[in-house]
Amino acid sequence: MIARVFPKTRMRRLRKHSWLRELTQEHTLHAKDLILPLFIHESPVTEPISSLPGTFRYGLTDLLKICQDAAQLGIPAVALFPVVNDDKKDPSGSEAFNPDNIICQAVCAINALNLDLGIICDCALDPYTNHSHDGVLQADGDVDNDSTIALLAKQAILLAQAGCHVIAPSDMQDGRVGYIRSALDQNHFHEVSILSYTAKYASHLYAPFRDAVGAHGIKNSAHPGQKLDKKTYQMNPANRQEALHIARSHLSEGADCLMVKPATSYLDVLYHIQQDTKAPVFAYQVSGEYHMLKTFSSHMHIDFLDILYENLIACKRAGASAILTYGAIEMARALQTTHG
Ligand code: PBG
Repeated sequence: MIARVFPKTRMRRLRKHSWLRELTQEHTLHAKDLILPLFIHESPVTEPISSLPGTFRYGLTDLLKICQDAAQLGIPAVALFPVVNDDKKDPSGSEAFNPDNIICQAVCAINALNLDLGIICDCALDPYTNHSHDGVLQADGDVDNDSTIALLAKQAILLAQAGCHVIAPSDMQDGRVGYIRSALDQNHFHEVSILSYTAKYASHLYAPFRDAVGAHGIKNSAHPGQKLDKKTYQMNPANRQEALHIARSHLSEGADCLMVKPATSYLDVLYHIQQDTKAPVFAYQVSGEYHMLKTFSSHMHIDFLDILYENLIACKRAGASAILTYGAIEMARALQTTHG
């Protein structure tokens, strides 16, 4: 280690001019690092999501327009999430297996635009179940791991048949990556990738998302009034070593890319997974993180894009090869001008 000491060394010398700061900058954020999560509902009318300011439940026509905008701005992929009408929800999430459901329709319509835009689909049952858990329940009310992964494999095949490029299992059941990989391969979908939610923590930061897709788990729950609790399958925020074990096992089961979620409070996890596996690791800046930045910037009169940039570049610094953010469009626009 070279000892660099004051006054021969002055770290501020390299910070003096903006051009010099540019030349010595270690990491850069590009539009091509970003993935745009989008909500699609069954109504043709797009509506704002009040719990997540700046986002919308899109009707199909507007969804296609926003996909075109994303592609034009150089955003490589979108991640789709369905908002299913309450009357279609049931204990086993059967609407997930309807080949004409809203998500399959959206995938076909986006592909028909020939945009060279990646389509990532969430693979989990929570938008479709009336208890809002990510799988089917066993007698004690907990999610039944093994019957759930069989259903997820079925859902993954359906999504692949619709034309989805990347299956993203977000349910946190054990063994689902391998199960989904073999099901895809058996059905000749060996070119469809798996982006596994590897370190998905049981976080309170998902609250605006659950509002957005109407997955509160209270209304029709078998245990009314009980707060939706996913701690028996999502990770304990106190654990990091466990994330490394899951990362290794997901890669050996056939995952192509890994994900850490939420992003900013879990950058140590992201860094360790990336260093340990050298695999592509994506960060998901979740709804609560986006919401906090929006509210903070508006309360403190700070430019939202400045604070968003700071959070996204932190993900890159930690080793993220891509970042899912609800601010992808705004950020990509800003990157064309000021935030280079
Ligand atoms: C569900 C899913 C969730 C999110 C993505 N997929 C919510 C949950 O696990 O309850 C949250 C994303 C966000 O908060 O932006 N499988």
